[in-house]
Amino acid sequence: MRHFLTLLDLTQDEARHILKRAVKIKRKLKEGKSHRPLEGKTLGMIFDKASTRTRVSFEAGMYQLGGHALFLHSDATQLGRGEPIADSARVLSSMVDGITIRTFGHDILQQFAEYSSVPVINALTDLTHPCQILADVLTYEEHRGPIADKTVAWIGDGNNMAHSWINGAVTFGYTLKIACPDGYRPDARLLEAARVLGADVSLSDDPAAAAYKADLVTTDVWASMGQEEEQARRAQDFNGFCVTDRVMSFARPDALFMHCLPAHRGEEVAASVIDGNQSVVWQEAENRLHAQKALLEFLMKS
Ligand code: CP
Ligand code: NVA
Repeated sequence: MRHFLTLLDLTQDEARHILKRAVKIKRKLKEGKSHRPLEGKTLGMIFDKASTRTRVSFEAGMYQLGGHALFLHSDATQLGRGEPIADSARVLSSMVDGITIRTFGHDILQQFAEYSSVPVINALTDLTHPCQILADVLTYEEHRGPIADKTVAWIGDGNNMAHSWINGAVTFGYTLKIACPDGYRPDARLLEAARVLGADVSLSDDPAAAAYKADLVTTDVWASMGQEEEQARRAQDFNGFCVTDRVMSFARPDALFMHCLPAHRGEEVAASVIDGNQSVVWQEAENRLHAQKALLEFLMKS
């Protein structure tokens, strides 16, 4: 039994296998052929935060794979009233075949996984969002071929998405150039751990330098879920970190732009970039479905 709490829970070969399966599963769906390896299986989905893409891609994905998904907003369960995580994990995992969790502290996810008898999948924590990187790498490779040895520029907050791009540099072998304001750098321990595992990651506070000759430029909101009250201060601190046409002009001419969404046009990205012809954000969002179906198959198929 395997969990998927960060990208580093997969070997490089396993991650590549999942992406290869995602391509096949996507093709089958587009051809109208059914693929139901999870018939009779149930995925419990615990959400402590809002979601559009993650919730819908897991729910639709389970249905398409022949299984069933159960949406459990924490406010509507005993978890939200303080039932211990360990107790909830033992009980829920005795009834379902997999559990995906979107929550705040990564330790909550880890504790749940420790007491769960079925695979637990990270649907986003304050620390990481690994499902998004599977979809993002799939999207890059559909457009441009292998991402290994390419250069990814991350511009903005050193947040859960930045952390996942850092882990992805270990798993997928791209070079990562991060530009973030002082005080918003990624977690130093996570970065060091990835570097020890071979990740090629550099840090600066210069968006143009990070974007220079990049094959992919990506960003995310300046205030993540749970940081809403910091929004005004962050808007000031991130001044100069918007991905504009000027920033994109430093990247390779065929560079792609990605954003996990939801986006704030005029803050972390200019409307002309996210709605422009280098942007692949809609394909990226759709690929959440296909990449996660491959992940669910990998973790839950008996
Ligand atoms: N990208 C992403 O995880 O979107 P949602 O918050 O809508 O799930
Ligand atoms: N960093 C964002 C990602 C949303 C998908 C957040 O955590 O809110």
